[in-house]
Amino acid sequence: MALYGQSGWFPGTQKKENLGYPTQKPLALMERIIKASSNEGDTVLDPFCGCGTTAHAAEALGRKWIGIDISKFSAGLIRDRILHNFKYLNADDIDLRGTPESVAEARHLARQDPFEFEKWVCGFIGAEGMFREPGEKGADGGVDGVLKFYPVREGRKVKPEYAIVQVKGGNVTADSVKALHETVRRYEASAGVMVCFGDQLGTVENQRVKATFKDAWGSYPVIQGFSVESLLSDGQLDLPLYGYKRRGAMLSL
Ligand SMILES: C[S@@+](CC[C@H](N)C(=O)[O-])C[C@H]1O[C@@H](n2cnc3c(N)ncnc32)[C@H](O)[C@@H]1O
Repeated sequence: MALYGQSGWFPGTQKKENLGYPTQKPLALMERIIKASSNEGDTVLDPFCGCGTTAHAAEALGRKWIGIDISKFSAGLIRDRILHNFKYLNADDIDLRGTPESVAEARHLARQDPFEFEKWVCGFIGAEGMFREPGEKGADGGVDGVLKFYPVREGRKVKPEYAIVQVKGGNVTADSVKALHETVRRYEASAGVMVCFGDQLGTVENQRVKATFKDAWGSYPVIQGFSVESLLSDGQLDLPLYGYKRRGAMLSL
């Protein structure tokens, strides 16, 4: 069953630039517009910034930039995109506003808008969102996001594998952990990650299958819990090359 695959992209956008936004503009086009309409040191504003092509082009051309997007998914994606492409910047150089910065704020978002909470988590951990529209119940088939990672398998070409991400802003039940395992099997993914608040991790731990998968560097739990608390303190999932990917490798593949 196909887990991945994008439904095409905006004409002129290079395949290596593609971040999965169907309306993503080519970087070269944005660079041309910015060069023609501003000078170095000016500030470029994109109030519908999506996956951040304007920010990318502005940074490359020595402009300051501000991006605004209604979707909280956008912020994490752009942060990773910029950090990957401009190694002289670090996370503190990017001022993110309007996304949760503390556990209390994350809980508030989870209560107030579970759908945006889900998007924010996926954007933050570098997962591609498989979002349903509000009201479109159950259309995600138990998949809130998909993480692509690269196990090191000796003597074989490095091929991506996938982890299914399920986000729970409330209680995690035994049934939801079982359902995640079932979804991992159904999609033939390598792993399943339940992202929840720290006080719910015990349920994941108690219910998770003890199975692991291996690569040349170690072994990793097939079902794992990841707390919002770890996410906010830049914790890493237990997946091969995941830390490397978080620093941006995913965006160039
Ligand atoms: C066409 S996409 C932008 C793609 C971007 N130009 C690129 O190439 O990366 C439009 C974006 O506008 C955002 N959007 C829609 N309504 C908005 C609103 N009222 N305020 C801010 N952003 C909004 C959407 O979430 C979406 O990410």
